[in-house]
Amino acid sequence: MLDLFSIKKGALMAVDIGTDSIKLVNLKAVKSGYQLLNFGMIPLAPGTIVEGSIVEAEAVNEAIKNLLELEKINVKNVATAVSGASVVIKKIKVPYMSHEELEDSIKFEAEHYIPYDIDEVNLDFHILTKYEEKEEERPEQIEILLVAVKKDKVNEYVNLFSELGLKPLIVDVDVFAIENAYEYNYGIQEGEIVALIDMGAGMTNINILEEGVTTFTRDISFGGNNYNQAIREEYNISYQLAERLKLGEETEKISTRDIIPLLMASTEEFADEIQKSFDFFKSTGDYRVDKVVLSGGCSKIIDLDKYLTKNLGIVTEIFDAFKNISIDEKSFDPEYIQYIAPFAAVGVGLALRRLGDNK
Ligand SMILES: Nc1ncnc2c1ncn2[C@@H]1O[C@H](COP(=O)(O)OP(=O)(O)OP(=O)(O)O)[C@@H](O)[C@H]1O
Ligand SMILES: [Mg+2]
Repeated sequence: MLDLFSIKKGALMAVDIGTDSIKLVNLKAVKSGYQLLNFGMIPLAPGTIVEGSIVEAEAVNEAIKNLLELEKINVKNVATAVSGASVVIKKIKVPYMSHEELEDSIKFEAEHYIPYDIDEVNLDFHILTKYEEKEEERPEQIEILLVAVKKDKVNEYVNLFSELGLKPLIVDVDVFAIENAYEYNYGIQEGEIVALIDMGAGMTNINILEEGVTTFTRDISFGGNNYNQAIREEYNISYQLAERLKLGEETEKISTRDIIPLLMASTEEFADEIQKSFDFFKSTGDYRVDKVVLSGGCSKIIDLDKYLTKNLGIVTEIFDAFKNISIDEKSFDPEYIQYIAPFAAVGVGLALRRLGDNK
């Protein structure tokens, strides 16, 4: 995990602002680990969030207020996450230096790799190269994972929560939040290379972990909305109707049997995109991918996991964000928990940041 922006200790709730919905996760530390206290999800109208940017701040503000009321939550501290073009994650090589030296010079190193003015971004890094501290065993160069997030994006999120009287203590990045949720729920297997794929409405984020450490990330502008678009083009109908048909509703004129081939065609297109990213990843070193773990609402697309398993030739499973989290069955129906588990990946990863772990 990366120690991102201003992590502090204390209880907090997670608010994941997505293109399709806002999700809230509130966990409580218990003896055995964590217990789920609240999960809430509230839909956003199309166009409220576009490519990770808040277009209709007022609507987002209202939705969060409603969510807090529905869940009867009084927590003030918030962890949230950003994604999209304002986030740059790159693996780079720099001359050997200590962690402290890197902290001082990261700005100058990063300047070559970030497409934005270096004073306009928040920077963080994680040293990837494993080496001994002994002087004679130090490598000439070390590889680091560089993370830059545009300050105006962070401010946009900070202002949004501040206006609601909340304290946004952590502004993380979607892929790192999911990585955190994965690590907590699944642990790290020696030598294993896992591709975490989060397929939301607007975008798909890929994060490939080698023994739990990010080694490759990529955003693909392909998500659930592309399926809707394919249905809309075929029948010349509204976004809302296309969404309902995708989720299994039927109309007098359009049946599920009509929709399935359109879904399959989009799935094929998606699988091709994933294959391209994996091919690129493999070409960057002597790599393979052992397992794909799929999260986000689109992990529910009919047979998507089976299709990826077959077409990529890699076992693909659906992310269970509550695998290692205690659930009180008096408060949550197990079937509901199973339904929401892939939607909750970012939220759970953020909520687990509550203890301010600085690894
Ligand atoms: N049962 C289902 N079958 C097919 N698609 C589904 C199903 N349930 C949800 N989806 C799709 O999942 C998408 C929403 O997923 P999710 O909530 O992860 O997205 P988001 O986080 O709001 O968006 P993003 O991460 O792209 O900003 C929508 O496109 C929705 O239609
Ligand atoms: Mg999302």
